[in-house]
Amino acid sequence: MTSPVTIQSHGDVAVVLVDNPPVNALNAAVRLGLCDQMAQVLADPAYKAVVLACAGRTFIGGADIREFDLPNGGGGPGFVEINGFFENRIKPVVAAIHGVALGGGLEIAMACHFRIATRDATFGQPEVKLGFVPGGGATQRLPRAIGITKAVEMIIGGEPIGVNEALGLGLIDDLFEGEPIAAGIAYARKIISEGRPFSALRDDDSKLAAARDNRALFTDSVAAAVKRTPYKETALACAEALGWCLDMPFDEGIDRAWDCFLTMKDSEQSKALRHVFFAERSINKIAGVARDTKRREIKSVAVVGAGTMGGGIAMSFANAGVSVKLIEVGKEALERGLATIRKNYESTAARGGMSKVDANKRISLIQGDVGLEHVADADLIIEAVFETMQIKKDVFVEIDKYAKPGAILATNTSFLDVNAIAAVTRRPEDVVGMHFFSPANIMKLCEIVRGKVTAPDVLATVSALARHIGKVPVVVGVSFGFVGNRMLLPRISQTGKMLLEGAFPQQIDGVARKFGMMGPLAMGDLAGLDIGWRSRKDSGEVSPIDDALCEAGRFGQKTGAGYYRYEPGSRTPIPDPDVEKLIVDTSRKLNVTRRAFSDEEIHERLIYPMINEGVRILEEGIAERASDIDLVWIHGFAWPIQTGGPMHLAERVGLTRVAERLEHLAALDNDNSLRPVPLLKRLADAGKAFVSFK
Ligand code: 3HC
Ligand code: NAI
Repeated sequence: MTSPVTIQSHGDVAVVLVDNPPVNALNAAVRLGLCDQMAQVLADPAYKAVVLACAGRTFIGGADIREFDLPNGGGGPGFVEINGFFENRIKPVVAAIHGVALGGGLEIAMACHFRIATRDATFGQPEVKLGFVPGGGATQRLPRAIGITKAVEMIIGGEPIGVNEALGLGLIDDLFEGEPIAAGIAYARKIISEGRPFSALRDDDSKLAAARDNRALFTDSVAAAVKRTPYKETALACAEALGWCLDMPFDEGIDRAWDCFLTMKDSEQSKALRHVFFAERSINKIAGVARDTKRREIKSVAVVGAGTMGGGIAMSFANAGVSVKLIEVGKEALERGLATIRKNYESTAARGGMSKVDANKRISLIQGDVGLEHVADADLIIEAVFETMQIKKDVFVEIDKYAKPGAILATNTSFLDVNAIAAVTRRPEDVVGMHFFSPANIMKLCEIVRGKVTAPDVLATVSALARHIGKVPVVVGVSFGFVGNRMLLPRISQTGKMLLEGAFPQQIDGVARKFGMMGPLAMGDLAGLDIGWRSRKDSGEVSPIDDALCEAGRFGQKTGAGYYRYEPGSRTPIPDPDVEKLIVDTSRKLNVTRRAFSDEEIHERLIYPMINEGVRILEEGIAERASDIDLVWIHGFAWPIQTGGPMHLAERVGLTRVAERLEHLAALDNDNSLRPVPLLKRLADAGKAFVSFK
């Protein structure tokens, strides 16, 4: 078998070339190849210097994450051993970097004596986002390369930096134009001809001196970085490992960090985060849409409706530097919408979230117009008007009249039938759902709703565009509430039931918060309880506690009272004895005997019925993959990413256990709707995972 690592001989310079598409990940074969080839070039007296370079679109993207669950990590040498070859004291090694140097890739580059890079290269240690500390020495070498404060920021923050910053910090020595092999050879020749001395980062503690003298430099930067990250537990482990570079000999720090990495990569949290990593990549594969499908050109975007969602969607485009036209029925509504957008940007700038110049630039990218005829020059039109079928149909008839041929017509409907909306147009194949989540300028999810006849190039285009504006596009099918909102319904029903039968809002929300999510009742107060109440009045449905709260004028945060009370100007929910009384009175009125709910039961009732609905969605083909459902919840509802999403969680808990608990709840409530759906039972009985279902 040929190795993905080869030696190219260029006189007295040896190029060690990694060729492992697509991202030159360090799998077992690459790791073995690196050790073998480096041993050879170091031993060969013909070579005076070595270049490490990569073929394809990038330098090394990191360890091969796919191997992490294999026995013994896929075998092959470990990072400490590999880096030892590059860090040798015999011959200078130049890393010639193009594309990205991430994780283990940057760690190998830091073991080299010199690093040069192309202008578009980026450098990062994203391990924190995968639930472990860097294992290949970044916690010890990066602080020696760039100082502890910046190393803390990069390792705990997990975000990459660009070449200018890398150059300024001393992470790289020089820039190059063109091709990495030629540039690496030229640089190596220069070193040889100048007889330039070379040293390894392991032997240079100069950038650690300040923090060794003044520990606060380290602890303060850790405190700031930990505060910002959602990955607190891993961040603290990274901080501890970074501290070793100040307190112990280099090799001891390296060995400890490696052990720490090995333990943490097998944790539940790391498994969940890796699941999310691959889930985010698999959404690029859309059934029936070839990867090379030609996308339509989107040069101009119009959003119809300047309310809560239309404004947020327009901001999402402006935030990505894309200009957008906001269209309303009347001047007053338009001005109101534009004023809200302006206020949002201005208050972000006032809080220091962006510069005033930046805020003004974004505001200027959003232009308003009154009248649907103004969609005429748009390549993509996103409708975000009231959630009423007849209004949507009327608006789409008009849009269809004015939009140019080939334009994509999208609806942001939360629940309505996209096929029925498409059917009123003369071009149903150009109609698609783009369901953003509130607040649309913040939440990353965009459910791309595929109608019966939506064209493949429409799906490919809107998915790519959503990605371009920083969203996570998940293709879903038409169904009431699609994926996210549909799964929310059983949770809402369980919450109402628990309140009526014995629980109080603070107890239910406390359980959700402990799990890592915003409490459903505090979320209800934030969204406003009156919306559901008004629509229930129309439909004749009842939700006893919600209805009683609204009849008492408690609509949520906007009225200073809902499930909780709120001090003026504050968003902090405060448990309210009046609400407890209202709840107890409502139970009494309906002759419901209240009982105690354990936290465990609340947890199960909040989560298992929605997982059950998720399985039903999978079975019906409304979601293509269970992992798509996980992304919907993580990016649309702030589900704690460390658990990998509801479907991943179900598999980790065990599908058999989930099915058993659902049976238990169904029997307890005498409610067949809680019974595990057939697919869940089938998979549980067969001991299979969701991925086996197609
Ligand atoms: N291991 C295995 N597969 C990887 C991978 C990795 N580290 N990085 C990317 N891939 C795969 C993707 O799953 C995808 O596969 P697919 O085509 O079958 O779906 C393919 O490579 C291309 O990936 P992207 O679609 O993400 O390509 P982009 O060009 O958009 O991005 C990238 C490239 C910036 C390298 C991005 O893939 C990325 O961020 N990868 C992860 C980087 C990372 O986290 N590295 C650290 C790994 S852990 C580590 O190194 C531990 C060390 O400390 C010991
Ligand atoms: P909203 O009531 O805040 O805004 C709707 C806007 O549409 C109003 O400004 C109204 O003047 C305008 N409008 C009505 N008819 C129009 C027409 N013919 N032409 C141009 N503008 C017209 O409503 P919101 O909350 O923004 O919801 C809009 C859509 O987004 C709905 O379909 C809703 O279900 C969906 N949605 C709402 C979410 C939320 O949390 N509010 C989340 C995700 C989707």
